[in-house]
Amino acid sequence: MDRKTFEPYKLNSLDDLRAAIETLNAEIPISEDMSVFAKPHMIGDRRLDNSLLVHPMEGFDGRFSGAPGELTWRRYERFTAGGASVVWFEAVAVCRDGRTSPNQLMLCKETLDDYKRLCDRLHEVNPNALLVCQLTHSGRFSKPDGKPAPVVVHRNPRLDAKFNIPEDYPLVTDDTLDRIKEDFMSCSRLAVEAGFDSLDVKSCHFYLMSEFLSGYEREGKYGGSYENRTRFMREVFAEAAREGGSKTVMASRYSPYDHIAYPHGFGVDREDFEKFDFSESIRLLGELQAMGLKLIDLTMSSPYFEPHINRPNNRCEYTPPEHPLVGVERLIKGTAEMKKAFPDIIFTTAGMSYLRDLAPYVMAGCLKEGINDLAGFGRMAFAYPDFAKDLLTKGALDRKKCCITCGKCTELMRAGKSAGCPVKDGEVYLPLLREIPKYSVKN
Ligand SMILES: Cc1cc2nc3c(=O)[nH]c(=O)nc-3n(C[C@H](O)[C@H](O)[C@H](O)COP(=O)(O)O)c2cc1C
Ligand code: SF4
Repeated sequence: MDRKTFEPYKLNSLDDLRAAIETLNAEIPISEDMSVFAKPHMIGDRRLDNSLLVHPMEGFDGRFSGAPGELTWRRYERFTAGGASVVWFEAVAVCRDGRTSPNQLMLCKETLDDYKRLCDRLHEVNPNALLVCQLTHSGRFSKPDGKPAPVVVHRNPRLDAKFNIPEDYPLVTDDTLDRIKEDFMSCSRLAVEAGFDSLDVKSCHFYLMSEFLSGYEREGKYGGSYENRTRFMREVFAEAAREGGSKTVMASRYSPYDHIAYPHGFGVDREDFEKFDFSESIRLLGELQAMGLKLIDLTMSSPYFEPHINRPNNRCEYTPPEHPLVGVERLIKGTAEMKKAFPDIIFTTAGMSYLRDLAPYVMAGCLKEGINDLAGFGRMAFAYPDFAKDLLTKGALDRKKCCITCGKCTELMRAGKSAGCPVKDGEVYLPLLREIPKYSVKN
């Protein structure tokens, strides 16, 4: 076993995990004290009942109008009933052109009442759950009609090549960006009206907002200098915080690190993009904190071109160039560095579902060491929506119910189908998986 070689999942016990961490010489904390998950938190005036959270995960199950569909309701009722104190909604498009698919959720005047009903229902299911609305524009990954319609902020040779964006493809103009900024602002207003408790100004995974941050070569008011590259996010955040008022928890799904070489990646060492350089990532968070930022869900890079960085997994569409525990370690180290700079911001980190029933030991280690405040699950919540209840009442996860990070939920999404877990929630999602030719029963 070595750090640069992918290895399928072999961790059958805490001893196996400890041995793997030692062999890889990885800095991954471990604690067996599961009581940390019951710890409540205050975010401003708002109390969180425990230290558990569901990460945002797109389900591709909205209606054409952008309203939540039947499966959207099902997912969020299950997540909320699961008992985590924070349920972070998936990417909700602020305008039609910024949708990843015709099924992506979209909040607008026409769909507002549907979101009000959903938030009311979820508050009924768990009155204390903090519901976070993730505001987004999909930028270069937009597909509002089911086919690519990229909105590109700047040339990025690695991403352009991967997604066949020609060299002469026009960059989005400043005027259009000003219009999109208005969309973010009106959507923030609607999210508060709908009953969300928290607004996430999302900046990650090379969607529009995060792409600005590496626009070193873009000209005009949204590119080049640090002030220009961060302008869009700062202005949207300031307006969203104003709309939210003192009762709304201001949040961000934030990537401090792109893992793409300078001058096309944010938060990277200019000589060696494998290393963090968080000077600008920290400066930006400091400015957002001054405007009211209180909660960060940390991620890195983009699942569109290197899922092993943000979703360490047991099976990828390619063989990752590293052991998945190295991915887990990178996410933890990145969070540790950011948390050190912002002890008053509540942090959580993604990427822990890979560890299955051993994840709580690592998460408890992170909480004990003050690297994180909340322990969050993404894929695990698809597979095992009651994870929080089990952790809080039994002090352990049931191995049989855990996500096995096989990637089929993402495959469903990439095939334009509703995303969920065909492995552990087969009644609903296995038939959808079977509609993909390679999984059809004839094969
Ligand atoms: C099917 C799927 C959809 C996702 N959709 C979103 C999303 O809408 N917004 C977001 O910020 N992250 C999204 N993510 C990323 C997750 O929030 C999370 O960062 C990732 O799954 C790693 O955490 P985990 O190991 O607990 O799964 C998605 C992940 C998956 C698998
Ligand atoms: S399909 Fe299910 S088991 Fe596989 S990664 Fe997704 S949630 Fe996990």
